[in-house]
Amino acid sequence: MRCSCHLADEAATLAFGARLAKALQPGMTLYLEGDLGAGKTTLVRGVLRALGYIGRVKSPTYTLAETYSLPAFELYHYDLYRMHDPREWMDAGFRDTDDGRIVSLIEWPEKAAGWLPPPDVVIHLRIDDDSREAECEARSPRGTEYMETCCTLC
Ligand SMILES: Nc1ncnc2c1ncn2[C@@H]1O[C@H](COP(=O)(O)OP(=O)(O)OP(=O)(O)O)[C@@H](O)[C@H]1O
Ligand SMILES: [Mg+2]
Repeated sequence: MRCSCHLADEAATLAFGARLAKALQPGMTLYLEGDLGAGKTTLVRGVLRALGYIGRVKSPTYTLAETYSLPAFELYHYDLYRMHDPREWMDAGFRDTDDGRIVSLIEWPEKAAGWLPPPDVVIHLRIDDDSREAECEARSPRGTEYMETCCTLC
């Protein structure tokens, strides 16, 4: 299943994140693809705000990951842009997080291709002048079910 959403401005990206947040379940993995500045972290901010997180959402560019304890589950937000060797993923112990209780949102998954848990959904953000296009693709049965709830409004 695929869908594509036009995101006219930053507020639309945050609102799309809120929609994605609603149907998230523990154990899900979403890959967030797209160029520098495409809006991946903004989307994560929208997800976290909708889940009740009121603190600052920092870009984990230097730390590789930021973790959030939410009422429903733990959410791990990764930014692998600065990862030089996919083995850093293993060394950091991230593999142990693939236990079905954590939601993983992963920016720049291509930097650790082959090492990451497979995605339920891949969201590709494309820069289109002053707006963005989000192209979403389900990659698992669970991802397909998930997208049926969050793509209906696109
Ligand atoms: N739909 C949108 N239309 C226009 N601008 C947007 C939209 N969504 C987000 N932006 C803006 O894009 C900029 C970059 O966003 P963000 O930091 O989320 O990108 P990113 O994809 O995480 O980049 P990086 O790969 O460097 O981490 C921000 O200034 C944000 O306000
Ligand atoms: Mg980012």
